[in-house]
Amino acid sequence: LKVIRTRAAMREYARQNAGRIGFVPTMGYLHEGHLSLIRRAKAENPLTVVSIFVNPAQFNDPADLEKYPVDFARDTAMLEGEAVDAVFAPTREEVYPNGVPELRMRYDALMDKLCGAHRPGHFEGVLLVVHKLFMWIMPRRAYFGLKDYQQYLLIRKMVYDLEIPVEVIGCPLVREADGLAMSSRNVRLSAFGRKQALLISRALFAAAKVWRSGASVAETQAALHSALGELEVEYALLCNAETLVTLTGSEPRPEKVLIAVAVYVEGVRLIDNVLLP
Ligand code: PAF
Repeated sequence: LKVIRTRAAMREYARQNAGRIGFVPTMGYLHEGHLSLIRRAKAENPLTVVSIFVNPAQFNDPADLEKYPVDFARDTAMLEGEAVDAVFAPTREEVYPNGVPELRMRYDALMDKLCGAHRPGHFEGVLLVVHKLFMWIMPRRAYFGLKDYQQYLLIRKMVYDLEIPVEVIGCPLVREADGLAMSSRNVRLSAFGRKQALLISRALFAAAKVWRSGASVAETQAALHSALGELEVEYALLCNAETLVTLTGSEPRPEKVLIAVAVYVEGVRLIDNVLLP
């Protein structure tokens, strides 16, 4: 595992390996979800590069940034276990030598939905850092988890609109055996909180079943909310999976529906979704 710390060294590695890199961007504290992206990248590319950078520009809540789990030794051991070729782990100064720039890339319609509606500036920060990473690493393909479905849509759109020569690949969400969506944030839950968090995937599966049986938007929404019980819900809704517009029931049944949930458990923000054809 080659550890790359500077953008100059990253650019040089990218230059030497042009067209051969599969890239998995992460904020570290790796879990099976990340490993599934890494395995896919390894299977489809001669070289796999993983980035680890907790991007301050995408945290709208400074307390959330402070509490984000970090363990570089653990992460690199996992990357070595997967025989990853290189890890790019720059410092904040390296990524933002003049501080976070004022540049904002925005998609008004897509960003005003779901997480974007509740985390002002979050996706602008994601697009900023992903664009920078793409410029330094010049990957042939880049892999993103569909747990962050809105993020995946936005990155795909940015790549298309800016004609960045990278193939953006969305990979299925990975769950614990009991259904909890894998997240680096899960380690912040107590045993009790973790049990409460199980309601999220159960509610999603219950709602998906109701929707698949041909029930209405209102009936599916009701099933979703009732299964979420007493959890502190930020949003829990059905939307068109292409536009992220919330379904009201008055529109024709869209081809693809996303049922998406964001809740707080013990102050930890957790998201999950199911995508229904
Ligand atoms: O999904 C994440 O972990 C982050 O948003 C990403 C894509 C690494 C950008 O910081």
